[in-house]
Amino acid sequence: MPNRKKIPIILDGDPGHDDAIAWVLAHASGRFHILAVTTAAGNQTIEKTTYNALRVCTLIGLHVPVAKGCRKPLLTEPMNAPSVHGESGLDGPALPEPAFDAQPEGAVELMARVIRNSEDKVTIVSTGPMTNTAAFLLAHPELKDRIERISMMGGGLALGNWTPAAEFNILVDPDAAKIVFESGVPILMAGLDVTEKALILPEDFERIRAQHNPVSDIVWQWLEFFYRFHRSIGYAGAPMHDPCAVMALIHPEIFTIRDYYVQIETCGDYCKGATVPDWYGLSGHVPNASCILDVDRKAFADLLVETIAVYGEKMP
Ligand code: BDR
Ligand code: CA
Repeated sequence: MPNRKKIPIILDGDPGHDDAIAWVLAHASGRFHILAVTTAAGNQTIEKTTYNALRVCTLIGLHVPVAKGCRKPLLTEPMNAPSVHGESGLDGPALPEPAFDAQPEGAVELMARVIRNSEDKVTIVSTGPMTNTAAFLLAHPELKDRIERISMMGGGLALGNWTPAAEFNILVDPDAAKIVFESGVPILMAGLDVTEKALILPEDFERIRAQHNPVSDIVWQWLEFFYRFHRSIGYAGAPMHDPCAVMALIHPEIFTIRDYYVQIETCGDYCKGATVPDWYGLSGHVPNASCILDVDRKAFADLLVETIAVYGEKMP
């Protein structure tokens, strides 16, 4: 493989099984310089997602600064997803206790510090409600141009999963999403349009289970847990929502991506949290998001399985 320059990133998420697998993928891919990890309140409370983040980083040997994010959405009350991720936010296999502590500074300050000090522009990989990123943009407008782009999992141009119109991450903090989408920072959007197609099937779980390395042993159990909920509502596999936001940065060629102007509905009786695309260019706005619409599922699954195998070898 050619010696490509690593992409500097901050991982901002609310682990969460699919967040954790996204971070497993990012670290093992060798394609990123992971500068920091910041946590969001979403799948569980900020205390729980921060604890989970530290345990995941410890498991995969990712020793970078970790900072706790905003306790609640910008204007609304927190909303969690224990039906999907359990009471801990990351139920399933036992994980190692954190080998290190979170930073004394909060997520917004840590983001500002690493973005200010980075030689190259930084990509934010956002896999939870976008509260931290929005708070960062509000607090540090002088650093906006230092963000290369925001690769985010959230929304759905055609569908929701928490209400008929809204996806969980956007619904939890629509005001934050609106700030991010109107910021002018390039956005790569992995919405439900693609993430519901990025299914890891039970036969793929088995391929990961057969690897028998310390991380794969946990990942297949996370997949089993995460799939339990999805199987109960008719899915053929576990949707890898958050890993799409990472995979699209490494292997854009396996995705179908189109640019649209996307607006965020922050209120309304039926559509709060909707991501509304201007399909036909009626608004007069230029596109603000590269929206991922489809994926080669088999290629996605193979790449994920192959990358997790790296934990049984010498890590990059
Ligand atoms: C999103 O919601 C969370 O439960 C997942 O971690 C993912 O980020 C999918 O709607
Ligand atoms: Ca998430």
